[in-house]
Amino acid sequence: MNDQKNTLFSAYNLNGLNLRNRVVMAPMTRNFSPNGIPKDYAPTYYARRAQGGVGLILTEGVEVSHRAASGYPNCPNLETDEAKKMWEKVVTEVHKNNSSIFCQLWHVGGIRKPGMPPIPEVPGFTPSGYVVPGKKVAHEMTHEEIKELIEVYAEDAKICEEIGFDGVEIHGAHGYLIDQFFWDQINLRTDEYGGSIENRSKLAKEILEASQKITSDSFKIGIRVSQWKQQDYEAKITSDAEELNKFFNILKDAGADFIHCSNRRFWEGEFNTKGLNLAGVAKEATGLPTISVGSVGLDKDFIKLYSGDHKTQTVDLNILHEKLNKSEFDLIAVGRALLSDPDWANKVQDGKEDQIVPFDKSFVENYV
Ligand SMILES: Cc1cc2nc3c(=O)[nH]c(=O)nc-3n(C[C@H](O)[C@H](O)[C@H](O)COP(=O)(O)O)c2cc1C
Repeated sequence: MNDQKNTLFSAYNLNGLNLRNRVVMAPMTRNFSPNGIPKDYAPTYYARRAQGGVGLILTEGVEVSHRAASGYPNCPNLETDEAKKMWEKVVTEVHKNNSSIFCQLWHVGGIRKPGMPPIPEVPGFTPSGYVVPGKKVAHEMTHEEIKELIEVYAEDAKICEEIGFDGVEIHGAHGYLIDQFFWDQINLRTDEYGGSIENRSKLAKEILEASQKITSDSFKIGIRVSQWKQQDYEAKITSDAEELNKFFNILKDAGADFIHCSNRRFWEGEFNTKGLNLAGVAKEATGLPTISVGSVGLDKDFIKLYSGDHKTQTVDLNILHEKLNKSEFDLIAVGRALLSDPDWANKVQDGKEDQIVPFDKSFVENYV
């Protein structure tokens, strides 16, 4: 291993959890869990990434146990004994292979359309009825519904600890429910969950606090956030540096063990092209462990997957090594490159990057 790769493959202590290296598998929905139960292949699918050298695995988005959490077909949940047993198998196989695993807890909010299973009458839940600015199309959550949802997250975090996961990642990114609260263009509430950045972050804060309270200290609880929304790639929680610092510190004060900042391209600076990326800004503001992500090892960002231009080429990791070596962020999540090649991390470590299997859409239709 040459010097440049030292940081990527060095051990990391995430608030007491020892990871063998800095490579994280990004959360990736698979739609292979009819009735919320991961199919038989799931333990092997995750174990292969652990065998392939990933230090920390983030599961695909797992719906929280709430009537309006789901928005896509065949996504997994934690609601039945069968689902829990499958997750137990996943965790056991990953641990056997020397990796850690966090469950990503997900609520789609207003992305849920009327008529969707499991209960077609249940509408999309949102802060103010909006999914994009302009037209009310979904249900505006009441105060009681917000309080109920916070308990749902905490109870699910507890279930994840009982199953054996090492932690959870609260999905607060990409324009789903928690991010709908962060986004001032569609959170128009006039109570304490809308208005200032403190108020818009209150749902996330209370979910983190309630989940920390109900789980043990060794169980890690963090959050994934993004400036961009699937509804609008240019949208932001805030473009004001001071307010962004405040936002990250609210998450820190709520007890987040880590912050995962989702970028489409990890090399892009948050405020100027050469500056810190979003994870770098979060780390500088809070000192917390941070995860970055976005097009690692690939020549196209993941949005292209959905616009037809899905074939990728492998590219070098020089900028990644540079950023890790100067501790801009602590961990790097890898998405598509790990779908097409479960051995991605080992190949990089062994200098066999020319043997990495490049990603295309077929790997999302047929998981290897
Ligand atoms: C097929 C697919 C499914 C995804 N599902 C999720 C998800 O469940 N939760 C989430 O936070 N992000 C999800 N993402 C985004 C990824 O976690 C990641 O941020 C994105 O793919 C960028 O990383 P990459 O360029 O290395 O692929 C998904 C991406 C892909 C390609």
